[in-house]
Amino acid sequence: MMSDEYPVPEEWMADISKILFTEAQIQARVAALGRQIVHDYADKKPVLVGVLKGVIFFMADLLRAINIPVEVDFMSVSNYSPELRDKGVVRLVKDLEMPIEGRHVIFVEDIIDTGLTINYLLRNLRARQPASLEVCVLFNKEKRRLIDLPLRYKGFDVPDNYIVGYGLDYREQYRNLPFVGLLKAQALHQPAHPATGL
Ligand code: PRP
Repeated sequence: MMSDEYPVPEEWMADISKILFTEAQIQARVAALGRQIVHDYADKKPVLVGVLKGVIFFMADLLRAINIPVEVDFMSVSNYSPELRDKGVVRLVKDLEMPIEGRHVIFVEDIIDTGLTINYLLRNLRARQPASLEVCVLFNKEKRRLIDLPLRYKGFDVPDNYIVGYGLDYREQYRNLPFVGLLKAQALHQPAHPATGL
């Protein structure tokens, strides 16, 4: 599977059963989302808000596809425990650096699965009284959604499988694959790293 188009190590490709979206397909879709945002926010100087870390590739490419004034900021969350996560509670470990009151905010996510993380964070952001708040998601995994979310901008619908690449990880690996692929079941069962536990 190694080729000029996918210059990634052979052993990583061995963990991927199928490429779902190529680098070119992702870039074309991100460019289209950027054009939609430019059209909708021409005089609004939007703030793009992302949640680390999976969003970094999407955010970087989306920003470059927006050729109007725009600002960016990041949050970081961590799950308290599986039990609290199931209740939709996440811990904010890094907050935004800029105030968003009265600003037009676009919440940018790499993937939405159950919707619990984004639901919690949207409530948090709404309380800061932005002028508007919309969601832009690249990969939408609808199958496991627990909460009805209005998604103003959507890249791709994805199946209920473990996908990696373009920022999406499995135990912190594979984020740097330029494409998005399905992870083989055998890769999901690798033992945790003895030092990091990941
Ligand atoms: C991913 C993604 C969302 C969340 C979506 O982050 O970036 O924040 O999961 O899941 P949900 O809809 O079921 O709440 P992850 O926890 O994998 O962290 P990462 O971005 O650092 O990889």
